[in-house]
Amino acid sequence: MLRPIGLVNTHMECRRLQESVPVLTDLLGFERVSERPGEVTLKHPNTDWRLIVHEGGADTPVKQMHNHWGVRVLAKPEIDAAYEYLTAHKEKYGLEQIGKPLHNHGSYSVYFLEPGSNGWEIECYEDVQRRDKVKTLFGGVWAPHWNKPLPEHRFPGRGYLPQGFTHGTLAIRDVKKSWDFFANVLGLSVYQANDHVIYLKHPDTKPYVVCAVRAEYKTFSPNFRFTIALESAQAVSEAYRRLAESGKERGVAELCEPQGGGASCSFLLRDPDRNWWEISSPN
Ligand SMILES: [Fe+2]
Repeated sequence: MLRPIGLVNTHMECRRLQESVPVLTDLLGFERVSERPGEVTLKHPNTDWRLIVHEGGADTPVKQMHNHWGVRVLAKPEIDAAYEYLTAHKEKYGLEQIGKPLHNHGSYSVYFLEPGSNGWEIECYEDVQRRDKVKTLFGGVWAPHWNKPLPEHRFPGRGYLPQGFTHGTLAIRDVKKSWDFFANVLGLSVYQANDHVIYLKHPDTKPYVVCAVRAEYKTFSPNFRFTIALESAQAVSEAYRRLAESGKERGVAELCEPQGGGASCSFLLRDPDRNWWEISSPN
């Protein structure tokens, strides 16, 4: 089993950076960290997780809404305000499928598709904050992901303020099989949200991955992936060696050669449902 130190990055593929990055910065509160040809790295100011956006070109396949990412606001009226703001600016930003706000498993959320083919959710867990167990339930994923809320002037004029970049999502076929793989191969904490949904998390990092059972779903290029960090490049090399020996029988559908050298090393693998993961030395 891997011994990760955190879920540290997630990667999204869009059609054109020029279209998608403004949605992430202007509508969801992300900030640019760095860029290079075909790739922009973003970070939400209240969240350690990084979002690396790749330009896949016009043929980038459209994601289903069950492959989405989510940011979180503090109060429910912000969700209604977000719906109004997104609707009023949908032509400017090329937004599609803006759903009416809805209550969904404890959250109050609005979903939309950005022009680069990815679903996004703005969620609010205000209702569940009164529950005693919210700090520990499912590893605390519904508790605030921030130590201190951002002030309004950090994201003025919209009527809503994303306070954290909380989650991504994956489709799976079988809860039991995936649970075993994520816990016993990738070394993540797994929590059962309901009969067909599990949450993946690392105890030391706040973001989580929602895995929901779907009868049918698409798989994508490695430009759509989640990154798990191990403590060192040496640990990454050792993990690769062990997975090359016994990963297949434990559910690794594909294993790619390590990249990099020195203090920086990573490799890609596909889980039993052919979703991509990256195992990496620390950021
Ligand atoms: Fe979600």
